[in-house]
Amino acid sequence: MKIAIGNDHAATELKWTIKEYVEGLGHEVVNFGTDDNESCDYPEFGKAVGRAVANGEVGCGILICGTGVGISIAANKIKGVRAAVCSDVTTAHLVKEHNNANIIAFGARIVGEELAKDIVRSYLDAEFAGGRHQRRVDMIED
Ligand code: RB5
Repeated sequence: MKIAIGNDHAATELKWTIKEYVEGLGHEVVNFGTDDNESCDYPEFGKAVGRAVANGEVGCGILICGTGVGISIAANKIKGVRAAVCSDVTTAHLVKEHNNANIIAFGARIVGEELAKDIVRSYLDAEFAGGRHQRRVDMIED
């Protein structure tokens, strides 16, 4: 799958780690930056990844900032985006199974490198359950 990744200055190192990890799983990663540690504004990167997901350029997205919160709030302003912040592997697969989240977000200042990889793996391995969950996702879109 083609996967978009974006981050702010708080998460650049973790972004490179996750990019390499996801590529190792056989996916193509499209990097929307930022790529250095200069202070920057996370809404810009949340918007870029959100747009790539919403317009179908990629199958899903990964967003990382200090907490995962600001960058996901920004992405969720784009119609069609369902970005979910996760700090554990259970939430990571449930946001796909129940909410059909198309972006997973987490905080570089909250989760460690190994947990971040497990969160991403748990999300990517999950499938949307449909059924009653589809109705609820449709209600969100409406
Ligand atoms: C940047 O210092 C920090 O505010 C940002 O990475 C993020 O945590 C915001 O939600």
